[in-house]
Amino acid sequence: MLDSNPFSVMLQDLRDERSSGVAFPPGETRFSLSRTRRFAGEPLEMLLEAYERYGPVFTLRLFHSNVVFMLGPEANHHMLVSHASNFRWREGHFRDLIGLMGDGLLTIDGDFHRRSRMIMLPAFHRENIAASYDVIVQEATHALDTLAPGTEFDLYAWTRKLAMRVAMRALFGLDPDGSRARAIDAAGLFEEALAFYASDYFLRVLRMRGTPWWRMQQAARELDALIYSEIAERRASGERGQDILSLLLDAQDEDGNTLNEVQIRDEVMTLLFAGHDTTTSTVSFMFYELARNPHVAERLIAEQDAMLAGAAPTAAQLSSGELSELEMVLDETLRKYPPAWVGPRRAIESFEFAGHTIPARAFVNYCSWASHHLPDVFDDPEQFRPERFTPEAKAAMPKGAYVPFGGGSRTCIGMRFGQLEVRTIATLILQRFTLSLPDDFQLAIRQMPTISPKDGLPMRVHARAGARAASVPAAA
Ligand code: HEM
Repeated sequence: MLDSNPFSVMLQDLRDERSSGVAFPPGETRFSLSRTRRFAGEPLEMLLEAYERYGPVFTLRLFHSNVVFMLGPEANHHMLVSHASNFRWREGHFRDLIGLMGDGLLTIDGDFHRRSRMIMLPAFHRENIAASYDVIVQEATHALDTLAPGTEFDLYAWTRKLAMRVAMRALFGLDPDGSRARAIDAAGLFEEALAFYASDYFLRVLRMRGTPWWRMQQAARELDALIYSEIAERRASGERGQDILSLLLDAQDEDGNTLNEVQIRDEVMTLLFAGHDTTTSTVSFMFYELARNPHVAERLIAEQDAMLAGAAPTAAQLSSGELSELEMVLDETLRKYPPAWVGPRRAIESFEFAGHTIPARAFVNYCSWASHHLPDVFDDPEQFRPERFTPEAKAAMPKGAYVPFGGGSRTCIGMRFGQLEVRTIATLILQRFTLSLPDDFQLAIRQMPTISPKDGLPMRVHARAGARAASVPAAA
């Protein structure tokens, strides 16, 4: 159990910091409102500046506490693999997410995490993911039917809705057109809940009516109603499928204990969030870069024409890396814009890294976004260059250099599912349309807590010469 009073939590953080008795690594450790505010708006720029000044490990005081950042291949490997057991997620900087997710896989640690992961892993085996493929194709095709050449639409909002429908159906066997699900806008509710992270640090500690925290709780309650009623219905009917909800309903640990309603709700909520938010950002950033790099889009289209000749790709084609240009574009998109950009942790014991001592109980973050932009690791990091990810170049990358899915025992459990979904949506869009950006569009990025285009992504739809709509598999 964590204390839910933000003021006593902050007080405890300050006590921990005072009592550590070890100096923090160099950095900017004096309280500063402007630094705190700037970090919320442009963390990447600040982290790269600090890296240049202080090296791979440094401290920034954000709001009330010192936060240690560790950047680069060795740092990622240290935190995710070689010394992962010295870090807890739950007490890290995103602990407020527990208010929305509860104790799902993302927010728990240690043995509880290991056991929960064991229960859920079978749902993410290759054959189960392939079984979701028809749902992804059907949903994407229907969403594409709503687009017309000559019109403009918000690719970010469009993908968010699509990815939520896919997550509901493929992960939970939940009908997004059923009366209960239709009555609520799940994607919109998540957007509302997560706006907490786009709000000012100072507002986040308030808990009364109308505050970002209160709005997050309201949205969570509406989502809860949907999830709990589905759990009750499935328990009553005994209906089971290959989806994760079925798996959770019947799961037992080594001692034969089953999961209660709250535990199931927490896992479902976590997967609904993690299963739609990151893929939405990835599709958006990919098409933003394709619109700015038409020569790359042309290579993708040529590859599709050669390999698919207008037919919908198969799951096997998309999972095997056969469409190698697409694979490289996906890898480069996740390098430049890793949606889950920061890995918030808390150190258990004090430790040494790169000649510095980091105190016990320090907030310590790894950051894929900044690590993927280090010029000593990736040449011209601002350039979008898929050829960085040829199989040979990828094999030659230092361990820990590229971590869009995290690593070690907490590697993204939905990695294969997410990759398949993004590849499918991208392929189906490219088979029908070319998307361009409005001339005056300037990308601004927000963190909420994943990164995404700040005010959506307006895109203009053009018919693709010779395009044929891919055939849709029959309804599951
Ligand atoms: C392009 C898509 C995705 C990206 C880039 C991504 C990225 C990540 C990253 C970086 C982490 C580790 C966070 C950390 O170290 O603190 C993570 C964890 C996780 N992801 Fe994903 N993710 C994606 C898609 C998905 C999907 C589709 C699902 C669910 C179906 C999912 C479920 C999870 C869960 C449950 C965790 C926690 C795992 C654990 O701690 O054991 N993710 N993801």
